[in-house]
Amino acid sequence: MIVVAGPASPMLSAKIADLLDAKLITPSFKTFPDGESYIRIDNPKTLKGETVVIVNTMYPDQNRRVIELLLMASIARDYDCDKLYTVVPYMAYARQDKRFLEGEAISLKVLAEIIGKVSDKVVTVDLHSPETISFFGKNATNVTAMNDIGNFLSENYSFKNPLVIGPDQGALEYAKTVANILGAEYSYCEKMRDRYTGEITMSVKDIDVKNRDVIIVDDIISTGGTVALASTNLRKMGATNIVACCTHALMVGEAEHKIISSGVSEILSTDTIECKYTRISVAKTIASEIRKL
Ligand code: R5P
Repeated sequence: MIVVAGPASPMLSAKIADLLDAKLITPSFKTFPDGESYIRIDNPKTLKGETVVIVNTMYPDQNRRVIELLLMASIARDYDCDKLYTVVPYMAYARQDKRFLEGEAISLKVLAEIIGKVSDKVVTVDLHSPETISFFGKNATNVTAMNDIGNFLSENYSFKNPLVIGPDQGALEYAKTVANILGAEYSYCEKMRDRYTGEITMSVKDIDVKNRDVIIVDDIISTGGTVALASTNLRKMGATNIVACCTHALMVGEAEHKIISSGVSEILSTDTIECKYTRISVAKTIASEIRKL
């Protein structure tokens, strides 16, 4: 087995290769002055007859990462690999998974179909809507990072009367998984808009937040608005300490400032996007999925 480390996932690829006892290949890559991507694999004949696992996340610069992935896949095919597995730790465009307005493209479907066609198997992590894994075709699996997040928190933190919260209803399942590992309660924030002032407030259903350590969990932190709104309201409800965890830390613009100034003491993310918030690895989860194939 050979793991090809995409330019966006060098450390995660190395960890996966190590866990699978596979050879790690790091292609050379560059961007031409006009913006086009270039990728080359040294000694490509070593790919012949091998199971090749390409790992490339799709952020930052979603569009470039898609092209890199397709170029690497084409090299593996051209040099007669046996099987081609594609790991997309963060799948970009996953939030545009339906036509919200007439005339829109279903962006996720467009990309998923292409990636599914060039791969024998696709693995994604916490795809925004897990059921859309079907867009990739039959041979695709979406794994969750929430067990890794839960285990990390349980090994490294001692929370006081912890409560795990999804910042919206969509994150309730994530909160449940993490809470079960921590032996904690869980719930989600419900948004309410004041019809006269337009002000948005949040409440947590049937659970007292006062004097508790709160762990907010979500799949994506992008602009930070969702977590910051939840945190501001949880603080008002009396939460003592708030930690924010996510699988994919896009952290666009002023996200960090927004979140920290809303009362969050720490932001933790996984290595689906390798960045300064990365504390948790999904390598074991991905490697064990690949072992099943
Ligand atoms: C939305 O449904 C997602 O799960 C995240 O809550 C959302 O993408 C976060 O975006 P932002 O950080 O921009 O509020």
